[in-house]
Formats: sequence, C-alpha cells, structure tokens
Amino acid sequence: MAVTKCVCFKKTFAQLLPLVRAKGWTTVAELSRATGCGTGCGGCKPYLAAMLATGHVCYRVKMDAAPPEPCAPDPWDS
Ligand code: FES
Repeated sequence: MAVTKCVCFKKTFAQLLPLVRAKGWTTVAELSRATGCGTGCGGCKPYLAAMLATGHVCYRVKMDAAPPEPCAPDPWDS
C-alpha cells in the first residue's frame, strides 16, 4: 500500500505538486493554508513535507520516525 494523497481533503500529491511549484510554497504550513491539506487528521503531513523536499508523489506507509520513502504507485493508488 502506498500513500499518494491527503485523504481528508481528497487531493493527490500529484495534484498538489504542480500547485506547490507554481506558487513557490516551501513549507507544509504554506501548502496547508492554501489547500487545507494537512489540517484535518494531520496524517499526511510527513508525506507533504517529503513531497516538498523531494518532489516525489508516492510513499511507502510510514511506521516510525524515519522520513517517508518514495515508492512507485500501485495501480489502485491513482
Ligand atoms: S490525510 Fe491530510 S489532513 Fe488527513
């Protein structure tokens, strides 16, 4: 299973990344203020931070304090 979206606000990281680049956002706070993503359950915040840092839009489920690892999306994760 991969993490590819903010479930609470129904936005995929692939949808968010072009916005991030167009707006020049560099922090989760900027992204959250504009889209709401990260302000619901907050579970996507480490992945949003990783997306901002790396530009990847798919991550393995994170089970510890280590930064999320990018992965290839599964067919059902689009
Ligand atoms: S998954 Fe993004 S705020 Fe809940």
